[in-house]
Amino acid sequence: MIKDYISNNKDRFLSELFELLKIQSVSADSKFKEEVDKAANWLVGEFKKLDLDNVEKIKTKGHPIVYAEKIIDHSYPTILVYGHYDVQPADPYELWDSPPFEPTIKNDKIYARGASDDKGQMYMHLKAYETLKNVGEIKFNIKFMIEGEEECGSDSLEDFVVKNKEKLSADVIVISDTSIINNENPSITIGLRGLSYMEVELTGPNRDLHSGTYGGAVNNPINELCKIISSLKDEKGKILIPGFYDDVKNYDKNTREEINKVPFDLDEFKSHINIGDIYGEESYSTVERIGIRPTLDVNGIWGGYTNEGAKTVLPSKAYAKISMRLVSNQSSKKISNLFSDHMKKLCPPSCSIKVTEHHGGEPCIVNTKTKGYKAAYNAFKEVWEKEPVPTFDGGSIPIVALFKKELGLDSILMGFGLDEDAIHSPNESYGLFNFYKGIETITSFYNNFAANEK
Ligand code: BES
Ligand code: MN
Ligand code: MN
Repeated sequence: MIKDYISNNKDRFLSELFELLKIQSVSADSKFKEEVDKAANWLVGEFKKLDLDNVEKIKTKGHPIVYAEKIIDHSYPTILVYGHYDVQPADPYELWDSPPFEPTIKNDKIYARGASDDKGQMYMHLKAYETLKNVGEIKFNIKFMIEGEEECGSDSLEDFVVKNKEKLSADVIVISDTSIINNENPSITIGLRGLSYMEVELTGPNRDLHSGTYGGAVNNPINELCKIISSLKDEKGKILIPGFYDDVKNYDKNTREEINKVPFDLDEFKSHINIGDIYGEESYSTVERIGIRPTLDVNGIWGGYTNEGAKTVLPSKAYAKISMRLVSNQSSKKISNLFSDHMKKLCPPSCSIKVTEHHGGEPCIVNTKTKGYKAAYNAFKEVWEKEPVPTFDGGSIPIVALFKKELGLDSILMGFGLDEDAIHSPNESYGLFNFYKGIETITSFYNNFAANEK
């Protein structure tokens, strides 16, 4: 029945998703503010079509949050669905094979910015609910909370959650915004990394100087910044900020063996991103480097003259954006402070340094002993006919730790993306198989949760 409903409505499901994918809801860039608002309005319309109650577009200091609910019976368990309708900037546009906001199907995949992260995945929940509403008996209450600022730090959502604990009361949170190993090996995410995102500004002389009349006698802040950055890690990939590893959770031999059992194909990993060899912290596997170890990476570096031709200049300033992915039980605030202090110590008297903190977020680990996890496990087993494997993802969804802290709720990370979806990159895509199979799996999760919880 469920399968039939999905298959009979598959073209409509897709054309609805296309409407959302056409909206350029880039949250980080104020140029797109109206488009972000348009996406929120569009969702309001969809929730109303689903006959949900208390459908609201909630204004915030930033972008709106869209909320909707259906409380069928107070004795039923309540599922809170979280997702985001905002997307990353699509730049650089010239690297897309088809325009990022004109969804296109090619090789059984939907190509568009947000196809996988997270419009396509979030929308599966609306369609799963629609499916059960039409062909099933709904024995659970549902609340949807879809935000428009995930890609730039979820600031407004944090405030909203803290102030609306009663409204958001539920038995479980479910999120489809992560990935599975591949379409033959379904998995459930049990760990996400946290984040400290910093910006560094190094100043040398008070203006750009002639690199001949001053060069050799005045420190160059770009040279200096490169030196500082390269001192942050040793040749074994270890981060050298004092205290950085103090709170990193160590896993015993058995657990590490367990973690390394996930089907992971190193050659495929390398060939997908066209690298000759892997790289990382000594004595950890690739799976561990991504899942359970912290990182430090330069995200961008600039300064001096970069236009056409040569300009002989000794620059006044150098900049870098540096992010650290964190793992349990590191704290974002603590790491940001350690980083700032360390950078200030490294700055020589010939330069001055300014370190600022962008958004951060805490890492999280999902308890696999809960009813929610079991419901997700059973859903995969039923629909994929294969037992899902628990995995640690390298990405971050900072709000998950906040949900636990403020609402006391575990989040089930039931995503259906693939690494090859190229989220945040040009030519982002989402498989049609994953979209439809995901909808079916979510219906099964809702039903399993409702049945177990009673
Ligand atoms: N959906 C991703 C996070 C993700 C992707 C988790 C793949 C696991 C697997 C999310 O939208 C995202 O991009 N998060 C940001 C963090 C945010 C603070 C900008 C990230 O991980 O960079
Ligand atoms: Mn996402
Ligand atoms: Mn993202």
